[in-house]
Amino acid sequence: MNISMRWSGRAVALILSAACAVFFVPALTNAQPDRSSAPVKSAANPANAGTSAPIRRPWMDRSLSPEQRAGLLVKAMTLDEKIHMMHGVGACAEVWTEKCPMPIKGYVGEAPAIDRLGIPHLNLADGRAGVGNKAVNVTLLPAPIAAASSWDPALLNEFGHVLGKEEWDKGANVALSPTIDVVRVPEWGRTFESYGEDPYFNGRMAAAEIKGIQAEGPIADANMYLTMNQENSRFSSDSVVDERTLQEIYLPPYAAAVAEGHVGTFMCAYVKTNGVYSCENAHLLRDLLRKELKFDGWVMSDWGATHSTVDAANHGLDQEMPIDEYFGAPLEKAVEDGKVTVATIDEHVRNILIPMFRQGLLDRQQPGNWDSNVRTDAHTAFSRKAAEESTILLKNQGALLPLRADASIAVIGEAGSTKPKGEGGGSSEVVAPYIVSPFDGIGKRGKGKITSDDGADLYKAAATARAADVAIVFARTEETEGYDRPGLNLPGNQDALISAVAAANKKTIVVLDTGGPVLMPWIDRVAGVLEAWYSGQEDGNAIAAILYGDFNPSAKLPLTFPRTATEIPTASKEQWPGVNGRSLYSEGLNVGYRWYDATHTQPLFPFGFGLSYTTFRLNRLAVEPRELKSKSGAAPEAVLVKVDVTNTGTRDGAEVVEAYVADPSKNGEPPHQLRGFAKVRLKVGETKSVTFTLDRRSFSIYDVSLHRWTCLPGTYDVLVGTSSRDLPLHDRITIR
Ligand code: NOJ
Repeated sequence: MNISMRWSGRAVALILSAACAVFFVPALTNAQPDRSSAPVKSAANPANAGTSAPIRRPWMDRSLSPEQRAGLLVKAMTLDEKIHMMHGVGACAEVWTEKCPMPIKGYVGEAPAIDRLGIPHLNLADGRAGVGNKAVNVTLLPAPIAAASSWDPALLNEFGHVLGKEEWDKGANVALSPTIDVVRVPEWGRTFESYGEDPYFNGRMAAAEIKGIQAEGPIADANMYLTMNQENSRFSSDSVVDERTLQEIYLPPYAAAVAEGHVGTFMCAYVKTNGVYSCENAHLLRDLLRKELKFDGWVMSDWGATHSTVDAANHGLDQEMPIDEYFGAPLEKAVEDGKVTVATIDEHVRNILIPMFRQGLLDRQQPGNWDSNVRTDAHTAFSRKAAEESTILLKNQGALLPLRADASIAVIGEAGSTKPKGEGGGSSEVVAPYIVSPFDGIGKRGKGKITSDDGADLYKAAATARAADVAIVFARTEETEGYDRPGLNLPGNQDALISAVAAANKKTIVVLDTGGPVLMPWIDRVAGVLEAWYSGQEDGNAIAAILYGDFNPSAKLPLTFPRTATEIPTASKEQWPGVNGRSLYSEGLNVGYRWYDATHTQPLFPFGFGLSYTTFRLNRLAVEPRELKSKSGAAPEAVLVKVDVTNTGTRDGAEVVEAYVADPSKNGEPPHQLRGFAKVRLKVGETKSVTFTLDRRSFSIYDVSLHRWTCLPGTYDVLVGTSSRDLPLHDRITIR
């Protein structure tokens, strides 16, 4: 334990025993609020030098609000101390570049404690699917795109709890998770880290995961703000996007992270939006985040995404990570020169302190450190459950699945045996304690003969497939931060392998271990397809449970799978990766399924699609109220959607009911947009009435002439079903 932690611990003891709101800590120094009396810096921790005299700590009064406490603490800080909080002390500015191929082992970002005032270290650790930065003895969960495929915010909340608990027990009090950007480009290298292509859906998932993380101790950091939709030219690319698209597509997940998730921090992105780098973009940081979304936490820069001192500080960046290139000495100088005011500095520091107080970081000690073993049986069990809940059944011809236990199985492809694919690459990478291979998982569960072939030699693989009752090809992509995929086909010889195996055995099933959509030129020749994503350490156990029917699949696609490489919303070079450094968001609102619907393009598998081993019937849709008056353009608070769902098949299972709204106006709205959903679990023959609400955004558009959301009068169609392309139930609501 470090000194600062001991002191804050002692302060806590004092607080608990004191009945009044004034707190004294004897051996600490006096508050020195102005620059003239600032303590001399020491090399190790510049903010920690100074004299030793008692200090009054009114900010330790826990009956005050986080905002009040932050205000009191800022008043007691010297300028050096304030600036000290506004940058990290790492060694590497640009990770994932040749200059600095990190991550280092240990916290990827650090801001040391200020002992004098009882401010603890900030220890930041990566991890979208488990604690990252080469931490060992941690749990590898399925990729976020997988977890999101459950369409179950409760699962994402549990995901956040597991992740947050392991981060906390590793000594990290800021968890750099989740990634909440909308998947605009299907080739995006970080698709696996995100939740998919719908803004409303991403917002629901983000809020649920953030709440889970923060309930365990750490401050969650949602990233990467904003328009971070590609990797190829991420350090320089300019996302050219119109105001309405920014508001309706890219901002909503962040709005939900604030309003519902109460997230503590955001990370501003590498890219520029409309010509200005994210971390010095006053429109993004001040107009949208602060004024419009009312965000009261702090914005840290992505690693190496700070490009200036004065603009960044004045336009809304609170903290440079991971070093002090712009927010160390240059910021002090800018204050001296009057280019950045002390009031601005105070505002930034308050933004950092508010979530720290809210999370109780100054009020309690954090157990554990980087070397702690944070794995538990419960986390292992959750990793498996999440993988099962994430696996999508895309095709099941002739009800080949679930398999008979005594069927002989040929497991084909490296991902099936020697190289199970549990996760994607980049800063989210986790050192998995193990990854159960599908061959081992199937071997433990099946009663028939199980053989395997790595698929390197197509003839040999076909012969192995021919000799078995059922052939299962495990195919994978290698997706990572830093690079977009060069195309949407499975890499290497995998398409040819699947075709060769399918020609040898009619009962061929393909299991996809991918982080995003892939093309399936062989789709008509295989009997079954499962999208298992990057499914974490329990990969083989989870897939065996699905294959043999121990778990009835209930996941659905959170993004569209296209039929061809050109039939995608971002097919032109101008859109992705961009020309002359500019990436034109010319598809506007038509991102993901919105584009397929607007252009009448048939996808391979639509957004929201996924099969089950049972069947369901939806009926008796009712929308309430069906008619209402809007007061001066304000949308209704909440509209209720009720629908009955019956399990009409022969197995217990779960169905996701999806509600889309089609706007009455002809202002360029996509044909229909997801506005609500609910997952319902049903026994054989059971019927449940499902009720959920459509919020006011469901009936609003962003009016660029007024620069605000507005509800247009007219009749809105409410379409309900089980995918974006299967919406048999219709009702309508008229707003006058
Ligand atoms: C860059 C990534 O974009 C970000 O997500 C990550 O948290 C930081 N590096 C730190 O590793």
